[in-house]
Order: sequence, then C-alpha cells, then structure tokens
Amino acid sequence: MRQALGARRALLATLTFAALGVGASRSEAAPAEPYTSAKACASCHKTIYTYWSESAHAQSVSKTSYRDALEAAVAGTADKETVRRGCVWCHAPTTLATGDYELRQPVTKEAITCDFCHTVSDVDLGKADHPFQLKPGKVKLGPLQYVKSPSHDTQYSPLHKASPLLCAACHEHRNAQGVPVLSTYSEWKDSPYPARGMLCQECHMPLVPGETVPEGLGSTQRSINLHRMVGGSGYSQIQRGLDLRIESLTRSSVSADVQVVVTNTRVGHAAPGGLSTKAIVLAVGVETDAGQLLHRRERVYRRDLLDADGRALATVPDLFLRAASVGEDTRLKPKESRAERFTVPIPEGSKAIVVRLEYRDSSDPKAGPKTTLVTEERRELRAR
Ligand code: HEC
Ligand code: HEC
Ligand code: HEC
Ligand code: HEC
Ligand code: HEC
Repeated sequence: MRQALGARRALLATLTFAALGVGASRSEAAPAEPYTSAKACASCHKTIYTYWSESAHAQSVSKTSYRDALEAAVAGTADKETVRRGCVWCHAPTTLATGDYELRQPVTKEAITCDFCHTVSDVDLGKADHPFQLKPGKVKLGPLQYVKSPSHDTQYSPLHKASPLLCAACHEHRNAQGVPVLSTYSEWKDSPYPARGMLCQECHMPLVPGETVPEGLGSTQRSINLHRMVGGSGYSQIQRGLDLRIESLTRSSVSADVQVVVTNTRVGHAAPGGLSTKAIVLAVGVETDAGQLLHRRERVYRRDLLDADGRALATVPDLFLRAASVGEDTRLKPKESRAERFTVPIPEGSKAIVVRLEYRDSSDPKAGPKTTLVTEERRELRAR
C-alpha cells in the first residue's frame, strides 16, 4: 500500500514537471502532455522561432478561416467526431498524441509546432491511421551531426535532412472516396526535381544566414534553414517560380493579336500547388489613357475536383469530404511552357497591351477570392 502510494506520488511529481516543461524523461512518464511549447524552444533557437512564427504552419489552427471550415465540415455530417479528427490531425498534429481534438491545449494552438516535427522518427504513407511514427520526448531529431544541447538530446535524422516524406505526410492526401485532394508530393515525384536531388526543403527551407543558437551555446553554425516555409501566399516565391513572356504582338487598326508564353520554371510541382481553391490567372487587356484595363480576357490554371454528380466543388470542406473524382486539370506541370493567344480590341485612346499573371486564393469563403499580382508585362501602343 505504502509502496503503491509512493509510486503514485512519484508519477504525480513527474506529471507536474511535465506540465511545467521541465524534467528529462517527461514523455515516457506523461503521455497525456508529451509535447513542449515552441516558446520553450525559442529561449535558445530564437531566430528559427521568429521565422516559424511567421509561417502558415504556425497559424494553421488559429486562423478564423480554418475554424470556420472546421465547423462547416463538422456541422454537415452525421459522424462529427470522425470528421473533426480527420480535419485536425494535419493542422494540429500534436493531437495525435494528446487527443485534444477540441483544440483547447496551448500546444494544440501552436499547430504545426517545433516539437512535433522534430520528434517524428519515421513516415510511412501507407499506414492506415496516420503516416507518422511519433517519438515525443527528449531526443530532438534534425539535420545536424555531432551537435550537443544542454536541454535535450540530439540525433541526426535523414528524414529531416534528405527525404521529402516528412512534408509528404501532410501534403499528400486521398479522401475517403480515394480522390487525391492534396497531391503535391506525387506531382513532385513525377517531376525532374527528385533526380536533381531537389527536395521540398531545398526550395521551401533554403539556408539563410542566422544562428541555430546564440554564440557559446552550441557549435558555430552560421546558417539556418528558413522556417518561414513560404508557398503561394508569399508573393516572391510565386514570382521566382513562374515566367511570363509576350512572344509576339501584331496589331491592326482595331485589334491586337497577342501571343503569350507562361512557364513553370521553378515550382517543384504543379502550379498552383496545394488545394483546388487556388488558381493562377493569366489576364490580358488593353490599358486606356486613364489607366483603366479594358477588354480583359483570362485563362485560368487550376484543377477541378468534382462531386458524385460531376459538379465542380468550391469550398475546402467539400474538397476534403465530397470530392468523388478529379475533373479538368489545367495547372502548369513542372517545367511546362504554355503558349496562349488572345485577340484584344483596341479602342480609341488605348495606351498599352497589358499581360498579367495573378494568383487567386478562394480558400476563405467569407473573405472571398484574394488576388495577388505576380508579374506584369506591357507593350506600349504608339499612335500609328
Ligand atoms: C537550452 C537551450 C536549448 C533549448 C531550450 C532547446 N534547444 Fe535545441 N539545441 C540547442 C543546442 C545548443 C543545439 C545544438 C546547436 C548547434 O550546435 O548548432 C540544439 C540543437 C537542436 C536541433 C538539431 C538536432 C540535430 O541533430 O540536427 C533540433 C532539431 C532542436 N535543437 C530542436 C529543439 C526543440 C524542438 C526545442 C524545444 C522543444 C529545443 N530544441 C530547445 C539548445 C536548445
Ligand atoms: C503535420 C502536417 C504538416 C507537415 C509535416 C508539413 N506541413 Fe506544410 N502545411 C500543413 C498545413 C496544414 C498547411 C496549411 C496551413 C494554412 O494555410 O493554414 C501547410 C502549408 C504549407 C505551405 C504553404 C505556405 C503558404 O505560404 O501558402 C508550404 C510551402 C508548406 N506547408 C511546406 C511544407 C514543407 C516543405 C514541409 C516539410 C519540411 C511541410 N510543409 C510539412 C501541414 C504540414
Ligand atoms: C514542418 C516541420 C518543422 C517545423 C514545424 C519546425 N522544423 Fe526545424 N527543421 C525541419 C526540417 C525538415 C529541418 C532540416 C532542413 C534541412 O536540413 O534541409 C529543420 C532544421 C532545424 C534545426 C537545425 C538547424 C537548421 O536550421 O537546419 C533546428 C535547430 C530546428 N529545425 C529547430 C526548430 C524549432 C526551434 C522550431 C520551432 C520554432 C522548428 N524547428 C520547427 C522541420 C521543421
Ligand atoms: C524547385 C522548387 C520547389 C520544390 C522542390 C518544391 N516546391 Fe513547393 N513551391 C515552390 C514554389 C515556387 C511555390 C509557389 C508557387 C505556387 O504556389 O504554386 C510553391 C508552392 C508550394 C505550396 C503552396 C501552394 C499554394 O499555391 O498555395 C505548397 C503547399 C508546397 N509548395 C509544398 C511543397 C512540397 C510538400 C514539396 C515537396 C514534395 C515542394 N513544395 C517542393 C517551389 C518548390
Ligand atoms: C492530410 C492533411 C490534411 C487534412 C486531413 C486536412 N487538411 Fe486542411 N490543409 C492541409 C494542407 C497541406 C493545406 C495547405 C494546402 C495548400 O497550400 O493549398 C490545407 C489548407 C486548408 C485550408 C486553407 C487555409 C488557407 O487559408 O489557405 C483550410 C480552411 C483547411 N485546410 C481546412 C481543413 C478542413 C476543414 C479539413 C477537414 C475536412 C482539413 N483541412 C483536412 C492539410 C490537411
């Protein structure tokens, strides 16, 4: 009896320590709260923390567009618990160990947090429940060899340094009907990039100047992998990835014939990547002296997912839950060039032919489609 009580007290003590985020063996002792907050990592990995805070990963649970979509998804189904879990595990993956699917714990709200990624020891995309092998605890896995930390153990991990699978675990997904709702990884796999050794990390986590830890604390690493992980929401990233060229422009007195070539030069997968709520729009029009764009014509590059009746789906919950087949896919494949031809009327007082490449994100129905100008080419129309 006495012995049992002692053991219980010891367990309680470890649990308390775990809650405070101290103690070396918290994970083994306290499976209910095995993850440490990013704020604790920030005390040493300050620069990486700052970049990560600005990432979509850090915000993927807290932003209202996600909460709205989650509620909409859950509201529309009979099996609310299953749907909720299905929506939460990628956006707040610590829940796989904590079970906090109601998103109450502070660490859950940190979404795709440091301690989640750095304690995944393996990924198996064929695993039934979820693809991760989780090892929350004192060993932090990463790309560095022979480094020491006063606060945790370290281990070199080929999964982090030399494999796309950590990313693929969440960026490749088939829904219950077997439709590839997210296929970024398989698009990358079918591209020329794997043969060149260009992983997701190469483009989304390039090395930038910075310290892993303040001087004197660890080795003398002078560069860090950029943890901001910018994608379509980052203007410069899309701009680097796509090329726009006016191939030719022939005009008559009343109209212009414009040939344009768009190339996916440096996107490692189809462009736009990700969900079918994203589109790249090529627009051509004529600019008036007053600066107005008239006679706008568009080509839209996107992939449609269809419901069981063959209708294109538009909202994020529908894409995940109701997509029954893949419809038209006009996205630009890696390295693909697309030649497009437009005929644009030239009214009196026209100044220039303008060609624009835009990125359109319709993921948030409340905000409506958000359009960002990627790049613009123009040809002045001189008086004839
Ligand atoms: C008391 C300071 C301190 C804290 C707190 C800390 N670390 Fe570290 N960490 C270090 C040091 C020092 C290194 C070695 C860095 C070097 O030598 O360049 C390191 C290395 C790492 C590595 C690289 C491991 C490898 O082999 O590639 C990872 C990953 C890591 N830490 C993750 C974390 C995470 C996640 C947290 C929060 C749960 C955290 N650290 C908290 C000091 C700390
Ligand atoms: C645990 C799941 C998970 C893992 C692991 C993961 N991601 Fe993500 N990622 C997400 C989710 C969820 C979003 C969407 C966040 C949002 O917009 O709310 C996202 C968004 C992104 C974006 C888009 C950001 C933007 O600006 O639009 C990029 C790029 C990205 N991830 C790259 C990566 C890379 C590279 C890796 C591997 C090193 C990775 N992700 C690993 C879940 C994950
Ligand atoms: C989406 C998964 C993911 C998240 C979230 C994440 N990391 Fe990383 N981290 C990686 C990967 C992958 C690498 C290795 C990249 C490479 O070598 O190309 C890495 C590298 C590191 C390194 C080694 C130094 C370096 O920059 O290469 C440290 C230290 C580190 N991360 C700490 C952190 C901390 C602290 C946080 C939170 C503030 C964090 N990471 C969040 C995936 C992640
Ligand atoms: C050769 C460089 C390159 C490689 C390799 C690469 N990407 Fe990208 N990725 C980009 C560029 C450029 C963009 C911005 C253009 C866009 O949004 O389509 C992007 C966009 C994204 C987005 C945001 C999609 C959107 O439009 O919101 C996600 C998510 C993403 N990448 C994940 C990944 C994952 C996961 C891998 C590995 C399987 C990967 N990327 C490999 C260059 C790359
Ligand atoms: C397999 C992992 C995974 C699952 C499961 C998942 N998501 Fe996501 N989700 C992502 C990734 C990755 C992105 C970013 C894709 C991109 O860049 O287009 C994303 C993006 C989103 C976005 C858009 C964020 C923004 O503002 O750009 C919303 C909203 C969202 N998911 C809600 C949900 C809902 C609701 C469910 C359940 C029906 C769900 N997700 C299930 C991985 C997942």
